[in-house]
Amino acid sequence: MLIDSYDRVVDYLRVSVTERCNFRCQYCMPEKPFSWVPKENLLSFEELFEFMKIAIDEGVKKIRITGGEPLLREDLDKFIKMIYDYKPSVDLAMTTNAFLLKGTAQKLVDAGLKRINVSIDTLKPEVAQNIAGKDVLKNVLQGVDEALKVGLKVKVNMVPMKGMNADEIIDVLEYCKERNMSIRFIEYMENSHAKVDITGLKSNELLEILSAKYEFKDEGFDGSSPSHYYTMSDGYKFGIIEPYEDDFCKKCNRIRLTAEGNLIPCLYFDEAMSIREAIKRGDIKGAALVLKEVVRTKPEKNRWGGEDGELSSRAFYETGG
Ligand code: 5AD
Ligand code: SF4
Repeated sequence: MLIDSYDRVVDYLRVSVTERCNFRCQYCMPEKPFSWVPKENLLSFEELFEFMKIAIDEGVKKIRITGGEPLLREDLDKFIKMIYDYKPSVDLAMTTNAFLLKGTAQKLVDAGLKRINVSIDTLKPEVAQNIAGKDVLKNVLQGVDEALKVGLKVKVNMVPMKGMNADEIIDVLEYCKERNMSIRFIEYMENSHAKVDITGLKSNELLEILSAKYEFKDEGFDGSSPSHYYTMSDGYKFGIIEPYEDDFCKKCNRIRLTAEGNLIPCLYFDEAMSIREAIKRGDIKGAALVLKEVVRTKPEKNRWGGEDGELSSRAFYETGG
């Protein structure tokens, strides 16, 4: 079992298979083109899998494939099947922007994928275009429908931003509710890669908007999910992710692996250790040592909302949020 210095059990690994993305969401990426990590620097699926086997053997029970946009990497279904076949009981999920799901959802299910998280920040095509930098909404919604059709469980993320999509909180929630998809509102996390003038809604502002329309009960946190849950009178649950809250990190159970092989103990900080060389030379023991060291050095909490008001310089497109 992997246990950090604050007695948290680390059993959740997020694996970014590429930092590339076909969107340029304002809250995630710089507007202008910038240089990607060259393709040859990416670890192959076999190499990523070598590390994932170690992590699973050390106690990881949940794996999420992220990006950038993971579906940009060819043969992703084969990678999913490798993980599934190694240990079918691993809770295997993926975060995607859904743009490419229409033609791929069935293959992913056949490979062993059970669940996906997608972003639906708006239901208005022009707002989607503004947020993502291109006209994406139609494909996203078709991708989501396809995922539901082939039996994937779908969770939706929405980042509510002032003057952008804050007026659609109820509409997006209703859209999800009608389709039996749960929704989590994520407080915008400030970072140095995002567009500068974004103001996210904080949970108290979200709750105010939601309580004008619905009655709901505060359920607190559920397991190690970072989401604060609320149940509406008809039983529908929604969540709010509040990284600025003091106790946000108390039950954190996750570490992140980038496509280049950097193992990251916390989403907020830049600190990382590489498993790349160890995996490349087939040094299983060496990679396991790095894994344990990263777990040992996992910080107690992030600094969003800290007195010094620091901006995180960690790129979310590298770690998939
Ligand atoms: N703040 C909050 N959420 C973010 N995401 C990406 N960048 C940010 C940010 N700066 C979320 C998106 C996506 C998930 C992968 O991460 O909503 O659903
Ligand atoms: Fe948007 Fe996700 Fe791509 Fe970032 S990685 S630009 S949040 S779709």
